[in-house]
Amino acid sequence: MLELKHIKKYYHVGDSTTKALDDVSVAFRQREFVAILGPSGSGKTTMLNGIGGLDVYDSGDLIIKGKSTKDFKASDWDAYRNNSVGFIFQSYNIIGHLSILNNVEMGMTLSGVGNAEKKAKAIKALERVGLGPHMNKRPNQLSGGQMQRVAIARAIANDPEILLCDEPTGALDTETSVQIMDLIKELSAERLVIMVTHNPELAAQYANRIINFADGKIQHDSNPYQEETGSDHFALKVDCKFNPNFWTNLSA
Ligand SMILES: Nc1ncnc2c1ncn2[C@@H]1O[C@H](COP(=O)(O)OP(=O)(O)OP(=O)(O)O)[C@@H](O)[C@H]1O
Ligand SMILES: [Mg+2]
Repeated sequence: MLELKHIKKYYHVGDSTTKALDDVSVAFRQREFVAILGPSGSGKTTMLNGIGGLDVYDSGDLIIKGKSTKDFKASDWDAYRNNSVGFIFQSYNIIGHLSILNNVEMGMTLSGVGNAEKKAKAIKALERVGLGPHMNKRPNQLSGGQMQRVAIARAIANDPEILLCDEPTGALDTETSVQIMDLIKELSAERLVIMVTHNPELAAQYANRIINFADGKIQHDSNPYQEETGSDHFALKVDCKFNPNFWTNLSA
C-alpha cells in the first residue's frame, strides 16, 4: 500500500553533504508492524518524516496505493497527512494548558471533522488507550506513560491507515515501555505501523518485520514485501488544509 522507490534526501551544510537517505527502496503491507533499527544519524527520522509527507525528497518516488505522489497536488498531500497518517513522537508533543480531551481533539483540527464528531472520536480513542478515567485531567497530572497514551489517542482518533512512531518508548522506563508496546502492537492489527526504535529487544519482541538502517541505506530487511498490483485497497480520505508547522507548534 505504501512504497518508496529510489528515495534520496541529501543535506548540504557548508562544504559537506550528508546522505540522509541514499537510494532507499522498500514496500510496506497494508497491515504489519515494522521496526526500523539503526545508529543515530542513519536516516530513520528522515525516512519516517518522508513517509508521513512531513518532508520532501530530493528524488525518487513515494507510491501510495499504486499512485505516484509525483502527481500529488497540495490538496492530495493535505488529505494524506491529515487523515491517513498518525504520528507518535518520543517527546509526546502534548499542550500543557489544555485538557487531555482537548489535546486529542486538537489532533483533528485540520481533518475537516465536525466538533461533535471530534469529541466523540477523542473520547473513544482515550478509552481505547485506557485513559477513560483520566480524561479531564491536565497533562501535568499524568505520568510519562499516560502522556504517551494521550499522544497515541491523538494519533489514532481519526483512525489513520498508517501509524508512524519515532522512538515512542525512548523516554519511558522498561515496564511502561512494555505497556505502550502492547498497545501499539494491538493497533498494528488494523493498520500499517512503522516504528523507529533504538531498542533491538523491543523490536524483536513486538514487530513482524525489522529493517536495519545505516548510512541512509537499508542494510537488512527481515520480511521484505513485493507489492502485488491490485492486492491492496487504500483510499485517501477527505480533503482539508494542512499547516506544515502544526506538529511543531503543538509542542511549543
Ligand atoms: N535539517 C537538517 N540539516 C542538515 N542535516 C540534517 C538535517 N536533518 C537531518 N540531518 C542529518 O541527516 C542525517 C540523518 O538524520 P536523522 O534525523 O534522519 O537520523 P536518525 O537515524 O533519526 O538519528 P537518531 O537516532 O539520532 O534520531 C544525520 O546525519 C543528520 O545530521
Ligand atoms: Mg531520529
